[in-house]
Amino acid sequence: MPTRRPTALLRSHRGGTGRQHRGAARLSGCRGRGHVAAGGGGEAVLEVRDLHVAVGDDRGAPATALLHGVDLQVRAGERVAVIGASGSGKSLTAAAVRGDLAPGLRARGSVRVLGHEVLEVPGARREPGLRPAAVLQDPSAALHPLVAVGAQVAMPLRARGTRRGEVRAAVLDLLASVGLEEPERVADGRPAELSGGQRQRAALAVALACESPLLVADEPTTALDTVTQAAVLDVLARRTGRGGPALLLITHDLAVAAALCSRVVVVAGGRVVEQGALVDVLAAPAHPVTRALVTAVRDAGAPLRERTPPPGGADGRQSAPGRPTTAGAPA
Ligand SMILES: Nc1ncnc2c1ncn2[C@@H]1O[C@H](COP(=O)(O)OP(=O)(O)OP(=O)(O)O)[C@@H](O)[C@H]1O
Ligand SMILES: [Mg+2]
Repeated sequence: MPTRRPTALLRSHRGGTGRQHRGAARLSGCRGRGHVAAGGGGEAVLEVRDLHVAVGDDRGAPATALLHGVDLQVRAGERVAVIGASGSGKSLTAAAVRGDLAPGLRARGSVRVLGHEVLEVPGARREPGLRPAAVLQDPSAALHPLVAVGAQVAMPLRARGTRRGEVRAAVLDLLASVGLEEPERVADGRPAELSGGQRQRAALAVALACESPLLVADEPTTALDTVTQAAVLDVLARRTGRGGPALLLITHDLAVAAALCSRVVVVAGGRVVEQGALVDVLAAPAHPVTRALVTAVRDAGAPLRERTPPPGGADGRQSAPGRPTTAGAPA
């Protein structure tokens, strides 16, 4: 499925009835490894309830609260975006879900993966089927610099029991499936031999090899140029959601969220301030923070002719030649 152009999508989203409220989902037990089937309505792959994160030592110094009771849910087959401004608590939420909070941070509340409480269990110690796969802003952080890319994709495949004779073909398939040309060359090379965009695709291949029920992607395209960004979004669109892992996408960019996700969770100041179906939130953003995000991305995406006032300008003054203004842009 080709990635929809984010800004076109923003302009075309209209209507929608009512805001989707988080329901009390019935959680089922772990089905073991591999993808859970995407069903109508879908079971909860991830349920975060009343998640608090604080920094402070245990020796009596007052803790500083960073997250204040975050609630969100991702169902099988779903792609859900967590959006918000810088410092709003997106990455902390993602880190708590992955079981990868920085030392010194303490969490309470509940994080359930496939119905299993995992908040207290570091990601590396979780059962493979309950360990979200991760793609981060900096792919170098996810890839070992000294190990060949193919060997890094092979590791989770072997851990999942892929037969020895089939590993190489599976690695090459995965590398090709994330859009890497010459998968043999990529597999045999080190991460340093790849461009930033190729490294992000390789990191995605490693994440997909885990066959986790949930992929947590924290700003996966922020460091990339726009063409590579579109290509990586396209891979996420093809490989997550129905038939693949559910996606929790962390982004500050509503246009990126709109390109991929059907639901959005808006955070500000460590709290969820709004959540719902993306079409509904775009059509009628209720919270000022959401309204600002929608306005910003609409302004940025409006074609020049919409943003350039007629000769003489809306206020009777001639605008500088070739210099777009925000006059006429949607509010
Ligand atoms: N290890 C830490 N120790 C102390 N404070 C932290 C720590 N990690 C994050 N914070 C604080 O928690 C808040 C939320 O941080 P977080 O990284 O979740 O922001 P974010 O929404 O991901 O922002 P960005 O878009 O810039 O990545 C910020 O105020 C940040 O300074
Ligand atoms: Mg962040």
